[in-house]
Amino acid sequence: MQRPAPQLGHGMALTRRLDSLLSALLDTRADRALTRRQILGVLLGTSVSLAASSALGRSSQALCLLTPPQTEGPFYPIEDQLEKDNDLTRVKGRAGRAKGQVIYILGQVRDAQCRPVEGARVEIWQASANGRYNHPRDLRNPRPLDPNFQYRGTRLTNKEGRYLFKTIKPGQYPAGPDWIRPSHVHFKVHTAGLPELTTQMYFAGDPYHERDYILNDLPQHERTRVIVQLERPRRDMEPDAGVCRFDLVL
Ligand SMILES: [Fe+2]
Repeated sequence: MQRPAPQLGHGMALTRRLDSLLSALLDTRADRALTRRQILGVLLGTSVSLAASSALGRSSQALCLLTPPQTEGPFYPIEDQLEKDNDLTRVKGRAGRAKGQVIYILGQVRDAQCRPVEGARVEIWQASANGRYNHPRDLRNPRPLDPNFQYRGTRLTNKEGRYLFKTIKPGQYPAGPDWIRPSHVHFKVHTAGLPELTTQMYFAGDPYHERDYILNDLPQHERTRVIVQLERPRRDMEPDAGVCRFDLVL
């Protein structure tokens, strides 16, 4: 099935990065000045700590690299679905559980100075395990909906800027001729006073990464920042589940 090609976001990513760098450069206060190495670090896409040089007598400050934005895609939820808590594996009033591998996604929302952002609204939406969205634009998809899957969720970050979702690993799905989208989860983060972030999170080892136009719209060093590894669960989680960490910098 052919789907409309999403808008690509590399230009937006570059603009945000340059904006951030420009803001830092324009800030002339001594305690926020950047060294040449630190600026290069930003340009090269490496996370750098701006522990200021003691020789210069500057106070220390960290700089976190912004999470690369990615297209929203055609399946952003349009219906105000009643249930959108942070456990997508169950639907209220139904005894069954969503099909697929349970995963926990946890992370921290921070600003560009690496400060935790409390009260940010983290929103996710995704395909079910069989690669189907609960969206009118996906009606021609012959794969059935999973009635026990919640398809979207939201969570406010706590005082430390942390969030947690329990969901299932989404399935891959065809997006056009010779184009299979790798498994991914869509994210949108809203918070007062900072730009909204829309991005996507991918899973390491997916064979469809190489030919995914959206993931490959990002330069290599940014791609690695939106790909997560599935790790073993903590004791308070389901024993067969996978856990991934996805920090978001606005
Ligand atoms: Fe998608």
